[in-house]
Amino acid sequence: MTAAALASPLSHAEPEALQSLPPLSLYIHIPWCVKKCPYCDFNSHEIRGGRDNLPEAEYVAALTRDLETALPSIWGRRVASVFFGGGTPSVFSARSIEALLAAARMLLPLEPGAEVTLEANPGTFEAKKFADFRSAGVNRLSIGIQSFDSRHLRALGRVHDGNEARRAVDIALDNFDNVNLDLMYALPHQTLEDARRDVGAAASHGVAHISAYHLTLEPNTLFYRQPPPLPDDDTAAQMQATVEQALHQHGYLNYEVSAFARPGRESRHNMNYWLFGDYLGIGAGAHSKISLADRIVRQVRFRQPRQYLARALDASPQATPIMAQHEVDGTDRGFEFMMNALRLTRGFEAKIFTARTGLQLESLVSQLDEAQRRGLITRDGEHIAPTPLGRRFLNDLLQIFLPEQQE
Ligand SMILES: C[S@@+](CC[C@H](N)C(=O)[O-])C[C@H]1O[C@@H](n2cnc3c(N)ncnc32)[C@H](O)[C@@H]1O
Ligand code: SF4
Repeated sequence: MTAAALASPLSHAEPEALQSLPPLSLYIHIPWCVKKCPYCDFNSHEIRGGRDNLPEAEYVAALTRDLETALPSIWGRRVASVFFGGGTPSVFSARSIEALLAAARMLLPLEPGAEVTLEANPGTFEAKKFADFRSAGVNRLSIGIQSFDSRHLRALGRVHDGNEARRAVDIALDNFDNVNLDLMYALPHQTLEDARRDVGAAASHGVAHISAYHLTLEPNTLFYRQPPPLPDDDTAAQMQATVEQALHQHGYLNYEVSAFARPGRESRHNMNYWLFGDYLGIGAGAHSKISLADRIVRQVRFRQPRQYLARALDASPQATPIMAQHEVDGTDRGFEFMMNALRLTRGFEAKIFTARTGLQLESLVSQLDEAQRRGLITRDGEHIAPTPLGRRFLNDLLQIFLPEQQE
């Protein structure tokens, strides 16, 4: 630490070695979908020429090799949760998912009772396949419903209609007791009443978890280039309030900006992201964050499935599926932690901040003071949480912690 840093309590962004490593999750990306949705900016690619053209076996082999080559960076660590995300993982057969889970179990110690989630889309649902996913070891299903209203589903370019959405939930609940439904609101031509009906329908199924996202126009999407007629900002804000109120009435806790759970049914995998835990992401375009005692490393794998396959399956010693990686310095650690943990309604403990970043909370004292002064956080010695105002104006709150604002 420099003399200047010692002199100023505001410039303690020099991290110390981590005393312990955070929980570790495994993320497995499946980058294909039946059809590309016009609002979607995820690394997902339309399956051309039907499912038979999917290089499924090759991709399972690539993921397994990817995991094997990543092992030294996470050696000896236990895995607390696994998440198959996409794209649409449910386009893969149960046999492939089982093979991947078998490889993960063989190579890594999975904690007993580890949460294993798979994202599935209506339109890819067959009862037998979902029973087989369950037997393969998946114990949580996350279904991309978006809406139960066929008009809105059409406007979103989804491959399913309202009936298929309801049928998908029924099949899911026949096989899983831990089910999440993804919904979106502020949809083209959607009214307040439409949005209320959608969340009411989701809640009436009694699922453990509901994620309700405000539809955003992401650059690089068709909706961004040709925006559909969307509710204005005031109506969208009212919709958000309506969604929150309706889910509260149905017994769901809004524990993160867009996440609602019955008590005790929060997503453990996502909680680990929000509390700045570690994750190894394998598959095309997957992101990782890996802590070692003296550094935190972020990685991203090649995005294009073809390129990823070629790199991951290349047996030469210097070949790697990792496209880029960098170390997260002290200043960025503080901001990245806040960016995630302040999304949580109940906030975080000061000791978690230190354990995960290697920084003392005092390194952000001027930013914390400002956030408190503006009524955006509450803070006692041990605990920091966003206020209702801070949650409503989360971007303003996060901006206070942007690295440029730090000394
Ligand atoms: C990884 S995505 C894909 C999951 C699955 N393939 C699907 O489409 O149902 C997870 C969720 O993000 C949400 N999402 C995707 N694009 C979005 C956007 N532009 N605005 C808001 N939410 C979005 C959707 O609710 C989606 O279910
Ligand atoms: S199905 Fe999901 S991942 Fe695929 S394009 Fe649509 S929103 Fe994106």
